[in-house]
Order: sequence, then structure tokens, then C-alpha cells
Amino acid sequence: MSQPVSRRAFTRLFTAGGSAALFTNAAWAAQAPQAPALPAEGVAAGERFWTAVRQQFVMPEGFTVMNAANLCPASRGVLDTLMRETRSVDVDPSPNNRARLYPEKEKTREALAAFLRATPEDIIITRNTSESNNMVSNGLDLKPGDEVLVHADNHPSNLVAWQEKAKRFGFTVVTVAQKNPHPGAAYYEEAFAKAITPRTKVLAVTHLTSTVGDRMPVRALCRIARERGVLSLVDGAQTLGLLDIDLTDIQPDFYTGSAHKWPCGARECGVLYVSKAAQSRLWPSIYSAYPGAVGFSKTFESFGQRDEATMIAFRAALEFQTQIGRKAVEARSMALTTQLVDGLSKISGVKMWTAPEADRRVAVVSFQPGPLDANKLANALYEKERIGVTTRGGQDRPGLRVSPHFYNSPAEVDRLVSAVARYMKTGV
Ligand SMILES: Cc1ncc(COP(=O)(O)O)c(C=O)c1O
Repeated sequence: MSQPVSRRAFTRLFTAGGSAALFTNAAWAAQAPQAPALPAEGVAAGERFWTAVRQQFVMPEGFTVMNAANLCPASRGVLDTLMRETRSVDVDPSPNNRARLYPEKEKTREALAAFLRATPEDIIITRNTSESNNMVSNGLDLKPGDEVLVHADNHPSNLVAWQEKAKRFGFTVVTVAQKNPHPGAAYYEEAFAKAITPRTKVLAVTHLTSTVGDRMPVRALCRIARERGVLSLVDGAQTLGLLDIDLTDIQPDFYTGSAHKWPCGARECGVLYVSKAAQSRLWPSIYSAYPGAVGFSKTFESFGQRDEATMIAFRAALEFQTQIGRKAVEARSMALTTQLVDGLSKISGVKMWTAPEADRRVAVVSFQPGPLDANKLANALYEKERIGVTTRGGQDRPGLRVSPHFYNSPAEVDRLVSAVARYMKTGV
């Protein structure tokens, strides 16, 4: 069970996270976040706990957004941290004040390492998953004759990026097709194992696809890659901050993620984990000043001047989820998704693209609302029901994509399912 977060502990959490003790101006430290207390019983308090969690966000009451796969809101504590730290640099841009920020970056590295169950020496703080993925495809020595194995459902930053760099460096991209509905872990394990050849140098997949939320068997795929001497890249944009990630279990060579998605962090911050074995094989894409202080970051992370406020806010977001309980966050999102999948599947005419089996999905759900125009439906949901979701255009599994997270509630899922059922009857 997660630990209760009292108002005082909550305040302490963020002021400690922002290192109030280091502040030269006590007034900055005094700007504690205005967040109501979470029930002392933690998740045992049931919906009362989750209602209090929802109140940590500034989205107005009665307004529902289930779009975590694209962008999550930052909590009050994260926002306050971001504003406080941004302001501090503008109030006092002296080197003396800025100097206190460099150790803050290292604390964020430590928090990320703990969150991923890795060591700080293997963590690079980037701008987002796109940048992290591209640092891998830019940074490896790949040449004609080499092969990179990808999944067709990878995000462009892990698919188009490889295809374009193949044109430049002469290597070949081999693509494992996506199957809908998700055929199960064993299918993909076999498909990837069969596609590996002696020329394969990298296997690059997505932990949870952003298209229809297919959960890929990344632990097995990384093992298969390792056994064949192939480097593995796992794009965790849709799982960092959703699943309780354990990199000692998955054992990828590269793992990537963004703060502004499921971690509910500030925008423009991300992570690239690089295994010790892979570090000597990755060239930096950027050479500048201000490297990190430990391990690989000393040579790889000279990215020039950064926005430390964003990094500190990212840390506050990781601490907030840790306080709630990472297993609790994962279980909450899973439960809401199961409710959503069950509800939508019962609506006559709805075509589900997301797998019904719980072990093949997490919290990204795509479906086609029969003959309804998905854009019109999304607009009606937003304007008339105050529910924000996104659309998937084109011919490839088109429709709506709904991605609930721990700040959503069973009542909100019910409201969405009822509204879709109604529009399916009346049209939009
Ligand atoms: C699987 C996946 N990878 C990478 C990205 C890119 O993330 P960002 O825009 O934060 O760089 C996304 C964004 O939706 C994604 O879904």
C-alpha cells in the first residue's frame, strides 16, 4: 500500500525536491504548492484517495481529459516547482544563483535512475523521447551490410529516423509487420527472432505502441537480441510513468522516455538510458559545454545551457508518483482501461483496435466508432460533454484514441462510454 501524503509531507516533498535548503532567498522556498492533503490511509481510502489525487491537478472539476498518450497535465506541485525555479533564475541570473542548479540536475538524474531501477551513471537527461531515440540512431556506427530490425508500429522517431539514416549511412532497415488484433507475445517473439540475421546490429521496438496500445514483449525481445549479440532500443514514451518500469528486468541497451507524457512532468525533458555495455558504441550527437557530472553523462551530455527548472520539475513529478505508489498508478490506469475496453466493446457497431486481453494492452485504447466521423465525434465529446480525447486519421486503424491515467476516474470512463453509445445511436 502506498504511503499517505499529508499536506505537510507533500509540501516537504516538493520543497525538498526543489532543495529549498539551498535557496539563497528564503522567499522562494516559502512558495509551497497549494495542494489539498491526500487521505492518510493512501489507496486504502479508495475513490476518496483518487479524488484527492485528482485535486492535485489544475484541470477544472467536471472537465475530463483522457489523452495521456499525447500529453499529461503537470500536477500543482510540479507547476509550482517549475514556476518557482524559473522565477528564481530571472530574479537572480547571477552565476552564484545558477551554480546551485547544476547539482539539481544531478539530483534529477538520481531520481530518474531510481525510477527506472538503473544507476545515475547510465542516465542521460534529454529533451524528449524523439531526441533520445535519434541520439541512438545518430550515434551508432552503422554501415552498408548492417541491418536494423524495427517494428512497423514504432513511432516516427524510431522508424522514419532509422529509414532516413539508412539512406545516409547505407545500412538496411528490416521491418516486422504489425498485426491487428495483437496476436500475443509469442507471435512477436518468434517474428523478431526469425528476422534476426548475422548482419543485425540493432533491434528497436516500442514498449507500448502509440497507435492502438499494443504491449510488446520487450523483456523477451531484449533477451533474444542480447543472445544474438544485437543491441536493443526500447522506446518507453508510452510506459515511463505508467508501468512500474524495472530496467534490471527488461535489460535493454537503450530505454527512452518523455517527462510530459505519463510521468506528468514539465514539457521538454526526457531520458535516455544507456547500458554500460553500449556506452562505448554510442557517439555523442552534440558537443558543447555543461556536461553531466557522473558516468556516461560526463562525455555524452554536453548539450550546452539547459533549463534546469524543467529538470527539477520533472523530478518533482517522479517524486509525486512515487509518493502515490507506482504499483498503485499502474493498477489504477489498468483498471480504468479494462473498464473502458469492456464498455466500448459492448456498444453495437464499435470496432475495437486495442486487444481485449489484459496482458496485451495497458492504457492506450483505439476504436472505430462505426460509420461516425471520428473528428465530429471528438469535437462533440469535447464541446458538449467536456471530454478531451484524440483522433486517429487515415486508413490505418482510424477512429478515436483514449488514454486514461491515474487522475481519471471510473465515473469519467462511464461518462465517455455512455456518450459514445448515445452518439452511435443518434449520430453526431
Ligand atoms: C511511442 C512514442 N515514441 C516517441 C514519441 C515522441 O515523444 P516526444 O514527442 O515526447 O518526443 C511518442 C509520442 O507520442 C510516442 O508515442
